[in-house]
Amino acid sequence: MSSLQTVKVTDIRNLVSVTLLPSPTINIIHGANGSGKTSILEAIYFLGMARSFRSLRIKPVVRNGQPAATVFGKVASEKANWSIGVSRDLESNFRIQINGESYKLTSSLASILPLQVINPDTFRLLEGSPKDRRQFLDWGVFHVEHRFLDVWKRLQKAMKQRNALLRHGKISGSLLEVWDQEFAQNGKLIDEFRKKYFDLLNPVFDKAIQNLCGVEGVQLTYQRGWDKESDLSDVLIRSLSRDSEAGYTQWGPHRADIRVRYKGVAAVDSLSRGQQKIVVCALKLAQGMLFSSLNNHGCVYLIDDLPSELDFQHRQRLCQLLETMNSQVFITCVEKDSLGSIWSPNTEVKMFHVEHGTLIEDAAEDLEQHLRSAGAAVLP
Ligand SMILES: Nc1ncnc2c1ncn2[C@@H]1O[C@H](COP(=O)(O)OP(=O)(O)OP(=O)(O)O)[C@@H](O)[C@H]1O
Ligand SMILES: [Mg+2]
Repeated sequence: MSSLQTVKVTDIRNLVSVTLLPSPTINIIHGANGSGKTSILEAIYFLGMARSFRSLRIKPVVRNGQPAATVFGKVASEKANWSIGVSRDLESNFRIQINGESYKLTSSLASILPLQVINPDTFRLLEGSPKDRRQFLDWGVFHVEHRFLDVWKRLQKAMKQRNALLRHGKISGSLLEVWDQEFAQNGKLIDEFRKKYFDLLNPVFDKAIQNLCGVEGVQLTYQRGWDKESDLSDVLIRSLSRDSEAGYTQWGPHRADIRVRYKGVAAVDSLSRGQQKIVVCALKLAQGMLFSSLNNHGCVYLIDDLPSELDFQHRQRLCQLLETMNSQVFITCVEKDSLGSIWSPNTEVKMFHVEHGTLIEDAAEDLEQHLRSAGAAVLP
């Protein structure tokens, strides 16, 4: 498994300078509202993605009054060790360093530190737009299919060019043919990658949801973004006049989606909030399970406020599943007792207490308290 061995955070939100030495398995980060728990997860995400999961802009993420946010980390797996560092200033310029060398692409970080986030935004997998579900699917495809990024970029370029021609009314001629061909060729490849990955993910999802228990009958279906019977090149020709009226390409892999249905009705319309959380957790866990089995190492889970919306039994099942997953997990909660005693004795669980942006490991905190009271006893 690959895991973070050290994380050093400087100037993210209310975290001035925080060093975390996590367990390779389960890490619980607890503390009062506003203490800095989500900011710790945000910092780890920043290390793997060079951006926040809470804000598209960097300014709110950088600690007030500071010029930049920086996170360093050491990642170890059976195969290799990496030292990675990410820094971003208020103008959004970023610096990425991997083992002392500078990199420009965040995708280099993502392959070293594959991350999965479960937080209130994860509900978007059910209630959000198809884009949210495409991004979810493409996370997996990116990690298993090395051609994905290149093909995806070519597809984006072809679509941009084609749309520009459509908007300018240039709907005949060899230029459109060239971009149609490029779009169709790469679009078909993206669909193949996605379909292949989805077929692997689907049974793993069934298993995950069975293990979490409580919502039988949830079904996923992959929709590729154009009709099942037609070739994408034919679809482009057929829809040319309507595309031209609309000014953009209406059918293609940019319209793909995963449908999540419960007993034939959209899950978002038929499940309770807690049941929806079980479904989105099962989707996220399934992806990590599949990732582990295909890559021989696990991804890192960032789980914000796990107890919310889940009853004790489902919380327990989720934690049991996480324990078996060969993944490093960071979980936040307000009350440490809500998650403290849920783990098997063989699992290495570390607990950290966050207070006003400082972090202290519970064992060290206990020792400090013990020393303080021992000191008090010998003092006059
Ligand atoms: N740019 C910033 N600079 C300094 N402090 C900030 C900045 N942005 C947010 N904060 C503060 O950082 C603190 C920590 O926020 P965070 O969301 O991490 O808390 P939390 O422990 O997750 O709380 P909750 O339990 O309510 O989710 C908050 O008090 C917030 O006001
Ligand atoms: Mg929070």
